Parts: sequence; C-alpha cells; structure tokens
Amino acid sequence: MFEKVFTPLEVRGVTIPNRIVFPAFQTNYATREGFVTERVTNFYRNIAKGGAGLTIVGCIAVSKDGFGATNVLQLTDERHVEGLRKLFQEIKSYGTIVAVQLIHFGRQTSSSITGHPLVAPSAIPCPVMKETPRELSEDEICRIEDDFTIAALRAKNAGADMVELHAAFGYLIGGFLSAYSNKRTDKYGGNLENRTRFLREIIEKVRSKVRDLLIGCRISAEEFVEGGLTLEESKKIVPMLVDAGIDVISVGAGTYQTMNHMLPTKEMGEGPHVYLAEGIKEVIDVPVICVGNIRDLGFAQKIIAEERADLVAMGRAQVADSQIVNKSKNGLLNSIVECDWCNRCMFVVTGEPAMSCPKNPNL
Ligand SMILES: Cc1cc2nc3c(=O)[nH]c(=O)nc-3n(C[C@H](O)[C@H](O)[C@H](O)COP(=O)(O)O)c2cc1C
Repeated sequence: MFEKVFTPLEVRGVTIPNRIVFPAFQTNYATREGFVTERVTNFYRNIAKGGAGLTIVGCIAVSKDGFGATNVLQLTDERHVEGLRKLFQEIKSYGTIVAVQLIHFGRQTSSSITGHPLVAPSAIPCPVMKETPRELSEDEICRIEDDFTIAALRAKNAGADMVELHAAFGYLIGGFLSAYSNKRTDKYGGNLENRTRFLREIIEKVRSKVRDLLIGCRISAEEFVEGGLTLEESKKIVPMLVDAGIDVISVGAGTYQTMNHMLPTKEMGEGPHVYLAEGIKEVIDVPVICVGNIRDLGFAQKIIAEERADLVAMGRAQVADSQIVNKSKNGLLNSIVECDWCNRCMFVVTGEPAMSCPKNPNL
C-alpha cells in the first residue's frame, strides 16, 4: 500500500526514507530567547515518531530584527546550537531526515515583536501588518546575507542535513523576489536577475561555507496579488536558483494579503496548489515539494505516481495526527484523527499565545 510514498528519495547522497514532509510550522513553543524547550522537543519527537521522511524544523529566525513571533526558535547566537543538537539527535533516531527553515520576516511582522524598526526591500507597508518598514541599504543586505550564512553553518553544526531558505509568503527574501513588494532601482530591484540577487547571494554564500549541506528553498510560485509573482515568472526564477546551488525546492503560494493561499481553505478542496509544483517541476531537475490541503497518503501517492511532485508536505494533517504516516503504512486508516480546518493552529491570527489543535491533546 502507498508504495510510491514509501519509495526512498536520494538527494545528493542523503536518503529521505519516504516522500512525506512535515513542513516548517511556527509553534511559538521556544523560549523568549529562541531556545529549544521540552514542548518543542515533544512536538517534533511525535512528528518524527509518526514517520515523516523529512522533518523541517522551524521556522528559525536568523536576525534579531527578523522575528515574527515572541517565542520563535533562533539561530542568532552560538548558544542556540546545543539545544538544537540534542533535538536533532533525538528525532533522527526515528529515521527522519532533518532540515531547518531559516527566515527573516521582513515587513510581515511588527516592531513591537522585534524591538527593531521593520526592514524590507522597499519602504512599503504590508497591507495586513500596516507598519511601514525601512528600505534596506546594500550594507544591511550584506549583513543579513551573512546572518543566513552563519545560521546555516550553526544548523549544520547542530546536525541538520538540510537548510531551507524561506523565500515564500512575502517575508524578507520573498519580498525581494516579487515586484509587488520590491520597487528598488539598484542592483537588488527591477528585472529578475536583480530581484533574485539577494537570494542567489545567500545560496552562494551558504554553499561556499557549508559544502556538504543540502540547500532547499521555499517559494510562493503564485502570490495571487496584483503585480506579484506568477507561475510564469516563477518558472524563470527557479532555474536561476538551481544554478546558484539549491538541491530541493518547495512550492507554496500566497502572501499575508492572500493568506487563504498560504493556508488553503477547506473550500479550495484537495491539493489546490499541486499544479504550481507540477509547473515548477517542468523546468528544473531538482526534487520538488508540493503542499496545501493534502490530507491523506492516498492522494500523496497519486501525486507522486503522476510525477507532479517528488515530495509531499502535509502540515495541518500531521499537527492533528502526528502518527498519520505510520498509521497509513500499517493499514490503520480508521484510527487517523483528521484535521477539520478549524485553524485554531493559526495562533498569529487567533491571538492565542502559541499553536494548539483541538484534535491533538499532546501539544
Ligand atoms: C500555525 C502555522 C504555522 C506555520 N508556520 C510556517 C513557517 O514557519 N514556515 C513556513 O514556510 N510555513 C509555515 N506554515 C505553512 C505550512 O508549512 C503549510 O504550507 C500550510 O499549512 C499549508 O499546508 P497544509 O494544508 O498541509 O496545512 C504554517 C502554517 C500554520 C497553520
């Protein structure tokens, strides 16, 4: 059963044991200083025990001016490495491959959270957060590229197999990629070569510092906003990222303004964005991760069998039932606890202090 899902995938010498990914999922379970807590460990332990082939821990903030929530994990200091090392050691013992997602939130946060003025490619407020950011200077761009690079090195030293650079959903890197939020007239704005420069420089710097680490990248292939990224444009962007050195690409959609695409609603039905992953897969040779309303391994199997994507991320489904992969493997389909899109997990929107799920008493 689900033979395609349980066919391992080798990526540059790393064997991912099956095709189900637990995507980055901000929980707000870390300490105020960004350290791993027992609650963080418990959460990822259950996901790893449940059978995910690739567990993406995070998001993890790389810069002090780039947090999106009060208790986000951080790699801003050498002292963050030790807790992550213990966490990775434990969850790897269940056979999962471990990635960390590295993020700078850019304008999609609040200075009341970061304690710093917001920064972005251009001084345009996010329509949801409504706070006007400061346009980054070239020196500051260079400093943030170095923040990503140092964080990647620390992630590697903590035992991660891969880093995923968060270039989706309108956060800082995604903000540079999109003409919707990037109005710069210097070498970081304008045409695609310029708008991808920030991300390409990060990829190149990370690759030069940490050669034997897989580098992934998450993008919003379609932002569904006027003047924003479209699949057509994203198909031109991703080969540039592969040339810069990425090994895996994860394909999401939307920005804060189109949150219904970041977190697809029930009405959108099963896998509304798989076509985006499929479109991206047409133009590159590195493995592609799809995401969005994928709730069972039967559908995941179909996606992989039809070669629409190589890996399938299941977020809310694994939050509701972290054992979904192994239960499916062992034919225990009737015992799976299903997410019903109540979206209580979205603590940033609901105003709750941290991520919770009425279906999962273990969080
Ligand atoms: C509470 C919550 C936190 C999330 N945090 C992140 C994150 O830190 N980084 C990220 O790339 N995506 C994040 N996402 C998006 C998920 O990774 C995923 O793309 C989204 O939930 C759609 O997949 P699903 O339908 O399988 O849940 C988050 C989603 C939710 C609901």
